[in-house]
Amino acid sequence: MHSVESAAAAPVWDPRQYLRHSVHRTRPFLDLLHRIPRLPAHDRPARIADLGCGPGNVTALLADRWPDAHITGFDLSPEMLERAGKDWAGTTAGGGWLDFRPADAAHWTPDEPYDLIVSNAALQWVPDHPESFAAWIEGLRPGGTLAFQVPGNFTAPSHALLGELCARPEWRARLGDQGRRFVHILGPAEYLTRLTALGCETDTWETVYCQLLRGEDPVLDWVKGTALRPVLTALGDDREAVDAFLAQYRDLLREAYPPGPDGTVFPFRRVFAVARKPR
Ligand SMILES: C[S@@+](CC[C@H](N)C(=O)[O-])C[C@H]1O[C@@H](n2cnc3c(N)ncnc32)[C@H](O)[C@@H]1O
Repeated sequence: MHSVESAAAAPVWDPRQYLRHSVHRTRPFLDLLHRIPRLPAHDRPARIADLGCGPGNVTALLADRWPDAHITGFDLSPEMLERAGKDWAGTTAGGGWLDFRPADAAHWTPDEPYDLIVSNAALQWVPDHPESFAAWIEGLRPGGTLAFQVPGNFTAPSHALLGELCARPEWRARLGDQGRRFVHILGPAEYLTRLTALGCETDTWETVYCQLLRGEDPVLDWVKGTALRPVLTALGDDREAVDAFLAQYRDLLREAYPPGPDGTVFPFRRVFAVARKPR
């Protein structure tokens, strides 16, 4: 088991809020999955790790592709792990096994050989994750794959406005850098260079998903499940402050993302990497 000592500083996650946009959030993972080559396991069940597995719905999709695999989702959030365990842990339809364990991806290293280490929309929360690539690849079987997807929209209005709001004098003392806590990603070219230097056959790319969100203030609703978690955690039970912050942020978002007749367009850039260890 790996240490989880940074849990105290971690944002509190809300699986129910996060899953409200699961269709849009799942699509990039399906696109990533499509690009993962055949795993080295052919005469035995594959061993798979999902780092930052969240509520487990995406982890469970791995069992559709590798039905007899033993798949473990690792996450830092007790709330996410509880939901994942409740909804998905146990034997899979293809006779495989799905379990969930606490771990901090910042310190996680493979404790057994893996055929696939995957991570979806989580490594942006792990500041030095490229420094872990060597250890993760070391822990893969020959021919195994490291595959991940990270959001690349940190200069988009949704995130820039959040950073600006946190920096306003009325919020700065209380929130500091919370609005920018998770900007830790590289571009596809940098990921390509780093993973190729580690001897992997590597494919990286980026995609902008033009997501059409429905309902009132849907961009605010989206970020309440992700980028706003550190701010909401920092404001805690202070309902008045939470309401005031959300009202200010909502007004900025309404201007940046005006609703159209069919919904609100929320473009979302994502960065992908698939690195295969030589056989
Ligand atoms: C945006 S959610 C993605 C969840 C899931 N992978 C998905 O695609 O739906 C990010 C997840 O990363 C987890 N996370 C953040 N920092 C982490 C860390 N250092 N170690 C492990 N998990 C972490 C959070 O708890 C959260 O569940």
